[in-house]
Amino acid sequence: CGIVGYLGHRQADELIIKGLERLEYRGYDSAGIAIINGSLTVHKKAGKVKALRKLIKNTDTSGTVGIGHTRWATHGEPNDTNAHPHTGENSRLALVHNGIIENYAVLKNALIAEGHSFLSDTDTEVLVHLIEQIQQEGNLSLEEAVRLALTRVEGAYAIAVIDRENPDIMVGARKASPLVVGIGKDEFFIGSDASPFLDSTKKVVYLDDNQVASISLKNGLQIRNTDNEEQPPFIQELDMQIEALEKEGYDHFMLKEIYEQPKTILDAMRGRINSKDSRVALRGIEEYANRFVRADRIIIVACGTSYHSGLIGEYLIEDLARIPVEVEYASEFRYRNPILSERDIVIALSQSGETADTMAALELAQRKGAMIYGIVNSVGSSIARLTDAGSYIHAGPEIGVASTKAFTGQVTVLSLLALTLARKLSTISNTYFQRLVSELELIPGKVEEALKANDHIKYIAGEIKDHHNALYLGRGYNFPVALEGALKLKEISYIHAEGYPAAEMKHGPIALIDENMPVIVVATNKSAYEKIVSNVQEVIARKGRVIAVVNQGEEAISNIADHVIEIPDTEEPFSPLLSVIPLQLLSYHIAVELGRNVDQPRNLAKSVTVE
Ligand code: G6P
Repeated sequence: CGIVGYLGHRQADELIIKGLERLEYRGYDSAGIAIINGSLTVHKKAGKVKALRKLIKNTDTSGTVGIGHTRWATHGEPNDTNAHPHTGENSRLALVHNGIIENYAVLKNALIAEGHSFLSDTDTEVLVHLIEQIQQEGNLSLEEAVRLALTRVEGAYAIAVIDRENPDIMVGARKASPLVVGIGKDEFFIGSDASPFLDSTKKVVYLDDNQVASISLKNGLQIRNTDNEEQPPFIQELDMQIEALEKEGYDHFMLKEIYEQPKTILDAMRGRINSKDSRVALRGIEEYANRFVRADRIIIVACGTSYHSGLIGEYLIEDLARIPVEVEYASEFRYRNPILSERDIVIALSQSGETADTMAALELAQRKGAMIYGIVNSVGSSIARLTDAGSYIHAGPEIGVASTKAFTGQVTVLSLLALTLARKLSTISNTYFQRLVSELELIPGKVEEALKANDHIKYIAGEIKDHHNALYLGRGYNFPVALEGALKLKEISYIHAEGYPAAEMKHGPIALIDENMPVIVVATNKSAYEKIVSNVQEVIARKGRVIAVVNQGEEAISNIADHVIEIPDTEEPFSPLLSVIPLQLLSYHIAVELGRNVDQPRNLAKSVTVE
């Protein structure tokens, strides 16, 4: 969910609504706004922020303090009533929340016994009733009531609260869900990230877990933890550009982000690689070189698309640096009592740096003594701050819910990591190392070249858009690419798709193949190439329709496939960086053809801060 708050001298409504539009990637089931202007007014609506905008168009929402929310439902279906902000028994407080209150049922029963009545099915409404009760019983300040209420709450939260009786104060708090305070000139903002207020201020304070921020125009920003200790705010200046949050002429953020990849891959390499003196250096690794070199094992934890780049990381690190690697879904790893020691390194891959399961997996690894390393996009995010060391991918804000440039950014950093370790451990020859370093530098240009197939891919999309299933096949380095291609199609077109290792097809999915099954084969590998050709023959023999991604000039598969997409040749370890491009474009064009909401597909959210 996305949270926005404003306290200052300007009209809050438009600032909040605009902020919510920027945060919609975090959830878009319903949206709401609360403003104080003498009285407390709350407006909320199922659906996108657009629906909320329409709802309040002809109503008076003037006022200079307010909060807003865009929701990704956990407790209670996404209807008007369950939308945030929620208010307390006397409609004195309004509160927005991201996260889950785990002991809400116990709290709710106690409050009902004391005469409270609830309107919604949400866990959040319980929290606002609790705060209001504590505040009124003890005649306490808003900040103190929030703090005391939070000591009774189990679970994860980022919240923002305003109080009709104290209109010059806004309180925010966090535990395991992100919250950042923006400090402007005589005005303050609160947000799940800085994007809602980036055009007003770049001065920010990221709250830490268990911190409660009290914001007032009179006393500024004051932070205490839930144990009531004062915590001096650490003010940072962001260097993010507002243009990065705009579509810049593209129809969708996803398309813009696909086209940004030549640049974002270059940005991920900037200052870290130089073929002239044959140098690769990831600063995060350098600091901990001994730990890496002596590591028994590297475990990569991640979710979604990041999990797929993790799988490519496994191929890269084992192939080039000969360190054993395991890749796990963070949500499985954390609940299965894994064996870990000080000689293990746990690497988390995360675009947002906020995914709750990935964060929890890292905390577990840290408790068990492993070194924890982050490969993250979002600067200053929770994972970036938790880890012992790490490398940012520097892809800039990724807004489209389906991840594209973050994936290639992660694979680029993993390639640099594998090369750095291979060099330190002398696991590959100097000539091969140099060849790989020079080749990696050429990748941005080759991605540019791969993007030229766009029109042809659009045509293919039109040919296969009406099928209900699709199978993606790849081998070796391109097996995780097949998984990622299938995920992209599922996410934004709602067509069922599966990714499979090409050779494994004959043990199951082959039973599904007929003329209605498009099979997308990633066939750019040089090793086991003949085997892939045979796999393609097996599909064709069963009347499957083959769309093949091959290297320029390839013939064996091109001669028999229904559709062929050509991409430049590269060294095999880097082939995913090129072969994923046509798969991203294919999903994009199919989704557009089907009239789907490409940037905000149903039921998904970009940043999943619940477990
Ligand atoms: C969500 C997003 C995916 C993303 C996954 C992991 O499910 O919709 O696109 O891959 O979370 O997110 P992370 O930010 O940790 O990479």
